[in-house]
Amino acid sequence: MCGIVGYVGNREATTIIIEGLRRLEYRGYDSAGIAVVDGGKTGIRRAVGKLRNLDKVLSEQPLAGTIGIGHTRWATHGRPSEQNAHPHEVEGITVVHNGIIENYLELRRALSAQGRKFKSETDTEIIAHLVASNVAKGLSLVPAVRATIEAIRGAFAFVIQSEHEPDKLVTAKNATPIVVGLGEGENFVASDIPACLAHTRVFVFLRDGDFAVLTRSGVEITTFDGTPVPVKPKRIDWSPVMAEKGGHKHFMHKEIYEQPTAVADTIRGRVSMEEARVHLDGVSIGDAQKLNRFIITACGTSYHAALVGKFMIESIARIPVEVDLASELRYREPVIDEQTGVLAISQSGETLDTLAAIKECRTRGATIFAICNVLESSIARECAESGGVLYTHAGPEIGVASTKAFTTQLVALYLIAIHLGRERGTLSKEDAQELLTHLREVPKQIESVLSREASIISIARRVAKARDFLYLGRGPNYPIALEGALKLKEISYIHAEGYAAGEMKHGPIALIDEKMPTIGIATAGPVYEKTVSNLEEVKARDGKLIIIATEGDARIAEIADDVFLVPKNDPLIDPIITVVPLQLIAYHIADLNGTDVDQPRNLAKSVTVE
Ligand code: G6P
Repeated sequence: MCGIVGYVGNREATTIIIEGLRRLEYRGYDSAGIAVVDGGKTGIRRAVGKLRNLDKVLSEQPLAGTIGIGHTRWATHGRPSEQNAHPHEVEGITVVHNGIIENYLELRRALSAQGRKFKSETDTEIIAHLVASNVAKGLSLVPAVRATIEAIRGAFAFVIQSEHEPDKLVTAKNATPIVVGLGEGENFVASDIPACLAHTRVFVFLRDGDFAVLTRSGVEITTFDGTPVPVKPKRIDWSPVMAEKGGHKHFMHKEIYEQPTAVADTIRGRVSMEEARVHLDGVSIGDAQKLNRFIITACGTSYHAALVGKFMIESIARIPVEVDLASELRYREPVIDEQTGVLAISQSGETLDTLAAIKECRTRGATIFAICNVLESSIARECAESGGVLYTHAGPEIGVASTKAFTTQLVALYLIAIHLGRERGTLSKEDAQELLTHLREVPKQIESVLSREASIISIARRVAKARDFLYLGRGPNYPIALEGALKLKEISYIHAEGYAAGEMKHGPIALIDEKMPTIGIATAGPVYEKTVSNLEEVKARDGKLIIIATEGDARIAEIADDVFLVPKNDPLIDPIITVVPLQLIAYHIADLNGTDVDQPRNLAKSVTVE
């Protein structure tokens, strides 16, 4: 949460920082601010709300200078207000920060006792005061920041500049992400890669405990206490256009349309049809015979992918799988041994609860694996030192509501299930070839769904004003009902509940009336008949029914008010396709209601707080 950008070079810092913040706005949009040093003086502009408010302030009061820092905020300590917006400035020292300083109250008390006055309610202002008081004692910026790090506890990634030493930016990382972008005569620092992609593709990913000093001519990395750390740059193959809307009204819409490519990219190079084998680059499931249990852990949409993964792995590899919300797993003293594999799923690779959960499991002896979309992210790194990481190749996902990351996570899970099945001998060569053939059909089948977007828009128009929705599914499509409901509520603010269709009679059926639309997923497969019976129960109570069914299903139209047909595939692959019309329904309902689809209220894409 919160996006940070810093620039030191010879170009106008404001333009570069504001463009960078625009790419990071998904991380928070409660307020935004920028500080630029020019001629030994710091200029600061801040505004509550989205970045466009800051744009307005800057157009009236521009800032010139070639070194600066910027921030887009997701409020934790202190409500969204101009006073609480970053950067925070104390005696010429300015700070932008992402994270939470846990001992800020005691530090604030101590600093107040020394006569220091606070202008905001944030924990971040503590950092500015500590650095300023160290500078006042005669330290130069770098040692002043090092001494500050010794005093603070908690999660932080910050960038600090000083008008007294206007040639450098100082940054440090503990538990929240920070990347350094390397340029020619200029350098960048940011919370995430897209912020600097327009200027460089060469990045250094700071590790926890790293401290970096950026000047125009170079970047020096040490540990917090000053031991040199070798600079190991990596080239990123994401292109700047991947972080643009490309003619779509919203990033979410663009990302829904990128799914055929993202799915194909995630399969590419990992499947050998002849041998019916899956190569999980970077992941060593170890001795698959020895692993007798998996725990999959994640948050949000990634948690729904985990729920589908349970069906895939149990059915194909016959290994019991538990799925646990990371925020629950980390605190419930899980029963784990060396034969337990723990798989984390995370688009960003930075979700704090997921990271903490796998660390906890690793301490208890588990081998930990990850499915991640962001290279070198914290979760990816943690797992690289244990079981390994399988990267989804979805490209940057900017829309806060996850779409292409989800479908590629499902593909990754399916690949893992087949790999395990082959290794453990629960899946024959012929069956594996058949499953892999079905998997390869997915990109085309998603394209076929997308080509019929017009009929989804008509459905969305008919139900856009409803205040409550029920989503029903069974088997692997039960998590898709949950995901469909989550998509709708997060971007349209309409109440929606996902339910296992068979459970409906134990409660939600009481809600059904002619005003409440129910979206049912009833594709061909072992639970088709049962699902249809549950949907009939909705119909019998005058409920409005929208049903996602399989092409060729002539019967379903008899009970449904609206039907959307998807191409036939293996029931375990179905969720990768059935979720797409649900993403589009949510998108169009939200768009028709005029909500901010890419940046829904109160949410952030990367949740690096508990
Ligand atoms: C936030 C995002 C969701 C995402 C979840 C988990 O809530 O808004 O879209 O599913 O975090 O994020 P992760 O990066 O771990 O998949």
